[in-house]
Amino acid sequence: MRVLVTGGAGYIGSVIVEELLREGHIPVIYDALVKGSHAAPPTGALVVRGDIRDTALLSETITRHSVEAVIHMVGLIEVGLSATNPAAFFEVNVGGSMSVIRAMLDTGVKRLVFSSSAAVYAPSAPLPLSEESATEPASPYGESKLMVERILHWVAPVHRLTCVSLRYFNAAGATARNGEAHEPETHLMPLVLSAAERGTPVTIYGTDYPTPDGTGVRDYIHVLDLARAHILALGVKEPGARIYNVGSETGYSVRQVVEMAREVTGRPLEVIERPRRAGDQPATVASAARIRRELGWEPRSSDLRTLLASAWDWRQAHPHGYGE
Ligand SMILES: NC(=O)c1ccc[n+]([C@@H]2O[C@H](COP(=O)([O-])OP(=O)(O)OC[C@H]3O[C@@H](n4cnc5c(N)ncnc54)[C@H](O)[C@@H]3O)[C@@H](O)[C@H]2O)c1
Repeated sequence: MRVLVTGGAGYIGSVIVEELLREGHIPVIYDALVKGSHAAPPTGALVVRGDIRDTALLSETITRHSVEAVIHMVGLIEVGLSATNPAAFFEVNVGGSMSVIRAMLDTGVKRLVFSSSAAVYAPSAPLPLSEESATEPASPYGESKLMVERILHWVAPVHRLTCVSLRYFNAAGATARNGEAHEPETHLMPLVLSAAERGTPVTIYGTDYPTPDGTGVRDYIHVLDLARAHILALGVKEPGARIYNVGSETGYSVRQVVEMAREVTGRPLEVIERPRRAGDQPATVASAARIRRELGWEPRSSDLRTLLASAWDWRQAHPHGYGE
């Protein structure tokens, strides 16, 4: 299948491109190549440099490359920044998604896989979080994802589109070729590994949460497991809008992550304990029962050791991230 991958030069997108190529699909990357993403196109993939809000260029790209499906990954991702600049997040995440939908309608492309997030869930929702759990985003970022899901809910049946929204939990890990190097980096595992590399302390925010060791618990999902979920989602044929959680169904605490990072890197990691940060949840863990049942997906690489060891190996091989 010829697949347009918006954001295909980013962290998760680049692994999806790897997997598409491995499975014999033809990916076409559409990306503005802003900071943090690949400076050079992955071998074997076409790259079109453009802004997601440029609907004319999107339509032209779809037509020129006979695109049959879209995986839409472009988005601004820093939850904290979304609280200080919500307009930018709605412009890119919602406006950009509308641009993708418009280009699909204008060119007759019927299949879409959309990168949604566990940030759509209400902080008070009981665990594990299923697709039926209450949604009430605690940030403009989460709201922007929920808004796109709602747009797809209305647009898909009318235009006979097949739309799959994947609510990712915390993406982590790396392949030999692609890993996580966001700028700014706000995700725990790369921050911990970066501290291990530099010999600087790791800050733990909150040690009095109602969790087994008092630190925050998150559900981490390996990028390769995430990528496989996208390939399976491309196989959905029935028109309409569907939603699936993509998480490992296992929660790891910040202390567990730090301890495993010590083991994997062989470096001593000093810890500084600070009070809780506003807006952080005690714990988020997915139920992925629906995607297991309906698409036959299962996580294979999302245990804590594999997540950290793969990310560490990638960092060792790419000391300057994507800068090289
Ligand atoms: N990383 C996670 O843990 C996580 C969790 C849930 C959801 N998501 C979602 O997955 C998607 C990808 O996340 P990621 O971690 O790979 O992010 P990323 O920042 O590595 O990749 C995003 C890509 O989008 C491109 N981009 C940004 N603004 C653009 C614009 N205006 N026009 C065109 N391209 C633009 C960037 O160049 C980058 O290559 C995002 O939509 C994010 O919200 C990520």
